[in-house]
Amino acid sequence: MWKVGILGATGYTGVVLLSILAYHPHVNVTLVTSNTYRGKKLSDLFPSLSGSFEGMLEATDDDHRGKCDAYFLCLPHGTSAEKTRELFDGNARIIDLSADFRFEDLSDYEKHYVKHGAPELQQEAVYGLPELYREQIKKAKLIGNPGCYPTSAILALYPLVKNRLAEGDVFVDSKSGVSGAGRETKLGSLFCEVAEGFRPYSVGVHRHEPEIQKEIGKFADIRVTFVPHLLPINRGILTTIYGKLVTPSTTKDLLNLYQTTYRDEPFVKVLGEGVYPDTRFTRFSNYCHLGLKTFDDGRFVVMSAIDNLVKGASGQAIQNMNLALGVDEKTALDRMALYP
Ligand SMILES: NC(=O)c1ccc[n+]([C@@H]2O[C@H](COP(=O)([O-])OP(=O)(O)OC[C@H]3O[C@@H](n4cnc5c(N)ncnc54)[C@H](OP(=O)(O)O)[C@@H]3O)[C@@H](O)[C@H]2O)c1
Repeated sequence: MWKVGILGATGYTGVVLLSILAYHPHVNVTLVTSNTYRGKKLSDLFPSLSGSFEGMLEATDDDHRGKCDAYFLCLPHGTSAEKTRELFDGNARIIDLSADFRFEDLSDYEKHYVKHGAPELQQEAVYGLPELYREQIKKAKLIGNPGCYPTSAILALYPLVKNRLAEGDVFVDSKSGVSGAGRETKLGSLFCEVAEGFRPYSVGVHRHEPEIQKEIGKFADIRVTFVPHLLPINRGILTTIYGKLVTPSTTKDLLNLYQTTYRDEPFVKVLGEGVYPDTRFTRFSNYCHLGLKTFDDGRFVVMSAIDNLVKGASGQAIQNMNLALGVDEKTALDRMALYP
């Protein structure tokens, strides 16, 4: 059995990791941490874990180097890099759910985030999107788990840009449930600020735009405009992307290309013609659903749905851990969405 640690286990991504890892036959969670709740039993805070996980919380600030075979860092950016520097020994696998190791270019990261806390480790990191970087992830000791919006957008655009079928401007219009903002108390996440309303936020300045741009820009000459919206639901992301094909194509032909691209991908489902993604059908699952439509003049619309806390965070992190530890990628993850 592999020993696994979760730093920042009291946040949404930490608790979702535990709820999935409870069904993992090859790992034992031997370390959970929190500074706020150190010394407390995690299942007293989250009774959903009761009977499955009875561990006590240790302080995040303590030194945990050498204790585990794999660590998940569910911490804010900045803090994560500092902790990674402490834990990294070239042996244990570190999967960072923050943005600290998602950018190959340090100046790109520092332009949009903060001064990097472990710049010497940046070259060790692999961007943890298995559909694009599976072979690199298998050998990685440090994995920068992708952002939730970028996961939904990159998977939706990848077949198009990989085959250079799109160019110019693409407009990425995303809607997310409130859990995307984490469990920390924030005015904008309060029930009365979110319920029965629907609004865009961080227009033109959201930090996920450069993450989408740098990945998509590796394949094609595309300019990304990203607008996130806050939906009055707990979890789920629906992304709708608008753009123009280099040469017009039928919906059927483009769907065939998507189906071929993702044929061997366990967690990407390309829906049939006229069937469009819905967050209800990806909730609590590690699946990404894709749908699309083209128009005679070359315009296209691609749509994706994921659960921000599973394929957009903890599920993808476990997929990455499985790859890096050499166990079946699907282990503990191949469960369908919970519907209704
Ligand atoms: N929520 C999502 O959908 C999502 C998706 C993709 C990626 N992410 C990223 O994943 C990371 C975790 O997200 P989350 O939603 O789980 O956040 P969260 O619910 O706000 O939880 C944050 C965790 O970090 C700890 N923490 C906060 N500030 C800290 C500090 N200064 N030093 C040490 N520990 C600290 C908290 O522990 P205490 O108990 O000690 O307060 C808590 O366990 C973030 O970087 C986020 O951007 C989130």
